[in-house]
Amino acid sequence: MSSRRQFLQQASTAALALSSSTLFGRLASAQAASTADQTVRILVDGRRSISPLDRNLFGSFLEQLGRAIYEGIYDPGSKLSDSNGFRKDVMQEVHSLGVPIIRYPGGNFVSGYNWLDGVGPEQDRPRVLDKAWDSMNSNQFGTNEYMQWCKAVGTLPLMGLNLGTGTPEQAAALLEYCNVDKGTEWSDLRRKHGYPDPYNVKNWCLGNEMDGPWQIGHMTATEYGMKAQDTARQMRYVDRSVQLIACGSSGPFMPTYLEWDREVLEQCYDHVDGLSLHRYLGNNDETGEDSAKYLAMNLTMDRQIAETLAVCDLVRGHKRSPKKLWLSFDEWNVWYRARSGDAVNGHRKEAAHLLEEIYDLEDALLVGGMLNTLMRNADRVKIACLAQLINVIAPIMTNESGLFRQTIYYPYAWALQYARGRVLNVLVESPTYDVKGLDAVPYVDAVATTEDGKTSLFILNRDLSKAHAVEVVWEDQPQSRVVASQVLTGSDLKAVNGFDAPERVKPQPFDKPSTANGRTKLEVPARSYTVIQWAA
Ligand code: AHR
Repeated sequence: MSSRRQFLQQASTAALALSSSTLFGRLASAQAASTADQTVRILVDGRRSISPLDRNLFGSFLEQLGRAIYEGIYDPGSKLSDSNGFRKDVMQEVHSLGVPIIRYPGGNFVSGYNWLDGVGPEQDRPRVLDKAWDSMNSNQFGTNEYMQWCKAVGTLPLMGLNLGTGTPEQAAALLEYCNVDKGTEWSDLRRKHGYPDPYNVKNWCLGNEMDGPWQIGHMTATEYGMKAQDTARQMRYVDRSVQLIACGSSGPFMPTYLEWDREVLEQCYDHVDGLSLHRYLGNNDETGEDSAKYLAMNLTMDRQIAETLAVCDLVRGHKRSPKKLWLSFDEWNVWYRARSGDAVNGHRKEAAHLLEEIYDLEDALLVGGMLNTLMRNADRVKIACLAQLINVIAPIMTNESGLFRQTIYYPYAWALQYARGRVLNVLVESPTYDVKGLDAVPYVDAVATTEDGKTSLFILNRDLSKAHAVEVVWEDQPQSRVVASQVLTGSDLKAVNGFDAPERVKPQPFDKPSTANGRTKLEVPARSYTVIQWAA
């Protein structure tokens, strides 16, 4: 089985014609000084919305991979854990973040996972080889432990199903185990295992990245679409209320990008509610290590969303269906360093240090941009998961004595705290710079949300060398009382946090801007992501 990495390398030539490599040519981007000194205008009108914002847009992901579960959230031998073996410091951190939904248990892992190995008496659970990551899995943490943990941290599970080696029957059995109260084979098994109450899990992913040759059980779009349809039908016999998400393309780098989505939906459109998409960005081959390009990359995510929706709506037209699908962007993040060699190979050990990407300031700024992209697409993207949450390409890293927050923690935490209610349809007038293959890139990328008289603005300044004057023009109700204002910035784009320096990169207070005559004037520093919240 080829790894995702190997596949990417092999496909890179072909993908040049299709992927974001075509969006960015070899030339470095040109951040032109001549346009960089113009005032940016952000026009905000509380009456003009894009959509209500579904809180599940700020979900995350925990895979049975590396140290995400074991040593991450579950570490029975640790002095930091409770009587369930759950790390208390991690629970506290996730609870205070307020993560609404967390995808589990994979990821590539799920395509070879037998959920029955992870339920029942712990001493009877088999120790198995996880072929996706060449790791050993003790199965001491399984479905019931996950449900207990979700309850403890105040989040909802987004359950992944094995559509690789697993059958539709096994998927429906897991749903029955989780959601049926009693009186059936699988619900009674749950009760026998000591969990009388059903979990009522609403959202389910029908497999993971089934378009990828690296995926266990990889198949053609037609085969997968038919399997997804069968699985969906069997699941709805068990519980009609579930929301089902079919696997879309793993990303624009795939040779089958969009064609996969179209064919899958031709097979299963009537049976599913959403379609997944994934995206990992990096400041390497795609960008030529040019940070100005890198900070524009979230715009390629806007494009990916638009293209995927076009396919959904094309198939809707073919089917004459009244139903409009929504998107589940259930893996997105920066990931480009820890993705080959020992970083992705567990060497048949438990809890190996896999995918332990260390994030720098520029990654955090781009993550801010990616959050902006998700917010302005909130009319059709209803679930999104920062991949992942603990230790594995994660905002939170643990060791035996504690945890630290990576740089990317902060934009994510701000979205969770301040982005509420409705996303506003703001008009941003910004000077631009050139990136080959993209439309002119605005230096300033901004989104706004509003709820109960509180309006929040999230501003990415992509300019690597210049601050930008910004004028917020309040077109209806001027906002003048600032209740929160912070900025993430710094002189070193490559600065990182670690156990040795956990706060090298962290938010700083941003001077509260004042409002006069319906306009708020402020200045966003070069290389920055800023949040400001006003209250009426
Ligand atoms: O999140 C890490 C991996 O990236 C997931 O297992 C897989 O779905 C994706 O390729």
